[in-house]
Amino acid sequence: MTDEIAVIPGDGIGQEVVPAAVRVLEAVDPEFTFQEAEAGDAVAENRGTPLPESTVDTVEAADATLFGAAGETAADVILPLREAVGSFANVRPARSSPGVDALRPETDLVFVRENTEGVYSGIESDLGEGVTTLTRVVTESASRRIAEFGFEYAAERDADVTVAHKANVMRVTDGQFLDAIDAVAEERGTEYETELMDALATKLLLDPTQYDVIVCPNLAGDVLSDLAAGLVGGLGLLPSANVGAENALFEPVHGTAPDIAGEGVANPAATILSAAMLLAHLGHDDAAADVRSAVERVLDEGPRTPDLGGTATTDEVADAVIRKL
Ligand code: NAI
Ligand code: MG
Repeated sequence: MTDEIAVIPGDGIGQEVVPAAVRVLEAVDPEFTFQEAEAGDAVAENRGTPLPESTVDTVEAADATLFGAAGETAADVILPLREAVGSFANVRPARSSPGVDALRPETDLVFVRENTEGVYSGIESDLGEGVTTLTRVVTESASRRIAEFGFEYAAERDADVTVAHKANVMRVTDGQFLDAIDAVAEERGTEYETELMDALATKLLLDPTQYDVIVCPNLAGDVLSDLAAGLVGGLGLLPSANVGAENALFEPVHGTAPDIAGEGVANPAATILSAAMLLAHLGHDDAAADVRSAVERVLDEGPRTPDLGGTATTDEVADAVIRKL
């Protein structure tokens, strides 16, 4: 069966790392067809919108999407695209790689972040006289859905689940989040641990090896996964998946890196690892594992891009990954 992949390089280094990752996908499975689409600052300038209708159509029609990054228009691009694939879970693995200088070289974590509500629901008000408010939305259905996804994801990997929360303060909303998770765990007969999200930040910094899969509300997942990026050696390495019931979008955690864009030296590892997550999502588990191990061997043996202390270009790293395949 031919899988159709929507490809959206976007702005800045997205134009460099996404084509590199597409070459890797072509090397593992020439049965893919690729539909390229536009989004981001450059399209906003040329066509008056950062996210043309035709791009949303392409994403909806595809089996999965590989996205690079958008610049100043990022929020206007990525939030509607996550919605277009019906994404409810943001999966962010943070794993140290051999040969990469990392604060915690033994880190191997996966954040499963609720991706639709919490404090990112966008319900903010300016009441005047210097008073502003934000409504934190937590529903039983979304909490159950992320719990089911997180427990299933962990079970497939034989991993432990830790749930991050702050129910001692946000008693009603995180109380409901925890109740929903507990109900799902009971139905599945699964064990799990809970941690207060602030205490978890310290524990992750001191000893990340205590944790495997961390299920968290939206904001906690955003903050804690960026903390984990610091543990494993940098933004150029972190992939992510936005998973929905029938569709999904894969993207590096990093942005457009305007400071190095156009120089051809961006690290393609995060995007190639995102492509590996895409392969696994489409059921190509062996190909996904091959790509991951090829990237790890290249990170270990070189060539490396300047962010990792090397002198290689984006394309030289992608070529090395393809040779390992
Ligand atoms: P950034 O991730 O683009 O860059 C932060 C630092 O990390 C820079 O020094 C950059 O050179 C470095 N870096 C990032 N990815 C790298 C890679 N693959 N290889 C080597 N070095 C890499 O974040 P920043 O600077 O905060 O944002 C830049 C632009 O990107 C902004 O316009 C922002 O809105 C956008 N952005 C878009 C995102 C998205 O589309 N999902 C996510 C984050 C930021
Ligand atoms: Mg973030």
